Amino acid sequence: MTTDTAAQAAYVVAALLFILSLAGLSQHKTSRSGVVWGIAGMVVALAATVGLASRSITATGLVLIAVATALGAGVGLWRARVVEMTGMPELIAIMHSLVGLAATFVGWNGYLDVDAELSGSLLGIHHAEVFIGVFIGAVTFTGSVVAYLKLSARINSRPLTLPGKHVLNIGALVAFVGLTIAFVARPSMGLLIAVTVIALALGAHLVASIGGGDMPVVVSMLNSYSGWAAAASGFLLANNLLIVTGALVGSSGAYLSYIMCKAMNRSFISVIAGGFGTPAAAADEGEQGEHREINAEETAELLGNATSVIITPGYGMAVAQAQYPVAELARKLRDRGVEVRFGIHPVAGRLPGHMNVLLAEANVPYDIVLEMDEINDDFAATSVVLVIGANDTVNPAATDNPSSPIAGMPVLHVWEAANVVVFKRSMAAGYAGVQNPLFFRENTQMLFGDARQRVEDILRGLDSLDTPVREMAGTSR
Ligand code: TAP
Repeated sequence: MTTDTAAQAAYVVAALLFILSLAGLSQHKTSRSGVVWGIAGMVVALAATVGLASRSITATGLVLIAVATALGAGVGLWRARVVEMTGMPELIAIMHSLVGLAATFVGWNGYLDVDAELSGSLLGIHHAEVFIGVFIGAVTFTGSVVAYLKLSARINSRPLTLPGKHVLNIGALVAFVGLTIAFVARPSMGLLIAVTVIALALGAHLVASIGGGDMPVVVSMLNSYSGWAAAASGFLLANNLLIVTGALVGSSGAYLSYIMCKAMNRSFISVIAGGFGTPAAAADEGEQGEHREINAEETAELLGNATSVIITPGYGMAVAQAQYPVAELARKLRDRGVEVRFGIHPVAGRLPGHMNVLLAEANVPYDIVLEMDEINDDFAATSVVLVIGANDTVNPAATDNPSSPIAGMPVLHVWEAANVVVFKRSMAAGYAGVQNPLFFRENTQMLFGDARQRVEDILRGLDSLDTPVREMAGTSR
């Protein structure tokens, strides 16, 4: 068997491992094995690629590959070890930017170093691949950098609203099509520079125009773009595995974006067009009335008298690392005969499944962790809702204020419960920068402070309560 045949066979094995990895990652229980399949696939892919390259490169080239691999692996291991769960989206965004940058370089290299054997229509196809690869890569690069800056709060997450922003986006796409035709007919560095600049500007503008509340969709969309950028590089490098892997990432990212768009009641088509950023709406409109406060002891008493409790966690639970005392609180209340369930919003926290991961880490049983659609009708028959570090995902303005930047986004109907206790440190707005009328409702009380400390205080308060243990209560208040 030649090196080439062996490498192609290894590529098929790696592609299958990547598919197994995606399948494993689709469920909590199999997600660890999904990661292992992915690592195995990447090891096979790297070994085959180095094997292929070693046929035609010098010893210096091999040393450079080894150094680059060691550097990349070192940085990857370091970042993966130190990153906080709450910092994952920005890490993912910056990694997407590297895929975009690499695709842009591969495209430029494809222009500067054309295979002498190519001629006629094959040469035309090559030049189209160069142009498309550079375009997708550059859009992904700047789009991901802006997403990183927004997610890490280095720039404001409010949408940028340039006059005629849709015309600008469509104009850039039309220019891209025109330039591609011109480039295939008569390739020139000037045209390639022009498309690179247009694509860099378009990527930055697409993401800058999108509001904070819609960032989850943007991150998964950029994930998809990075896949297509890798696939474009695969065509240029005649690397089948890169094409397959890029297509897997591109299509799974697009499908995830579609699911998220549905969950957030956004139009998938307008996301792809990049024009769904909300109009410049009032950010923090200030306080909207009087709010009431409650302390931990009173909350413990409220919970001690409750028959049913729903906990809706959000980003603040992750920041406070409150999942362990929250799990303990759920256990204690269940021991007292209180029905306890968790209501999870699809974009609570900062990454898909964020809350599920934290609750699983703290050993909260899966069967009491329900998705928004499964629990939304039950709030009305619930004694107490504990909103732990959630804000945008429980904001009633999304349902009853059509001019709100988050209007139309489905939210957890926590306000329908008899009592709502909101855990947060201040009256500040959530990620989307929108004030939350929930805080000023009659049945809502604010429990200020770090979520972890407050839940621990409640646990102590519950211990000192002398309430008799009741039978498991139904859903009545
Ligand atoms: P957010 O709207 O982000 O609000 C989190 C709340 O937690 C804040 O109001 C904050 O108030 C509070 N908080 C922060 N640290 C705290 C602590 N140590 N103790 C107690 N409270 C604390 O949360 P959410 O409801 O989970 O909504 C998620 C938002 O992020 C949505 O807008 C979503 O679109 C966006 N987003 C989601 C994702 C994904 S994929 N999930 C990705 C990117 C963006 P204080 O500062 O007053 O404490």
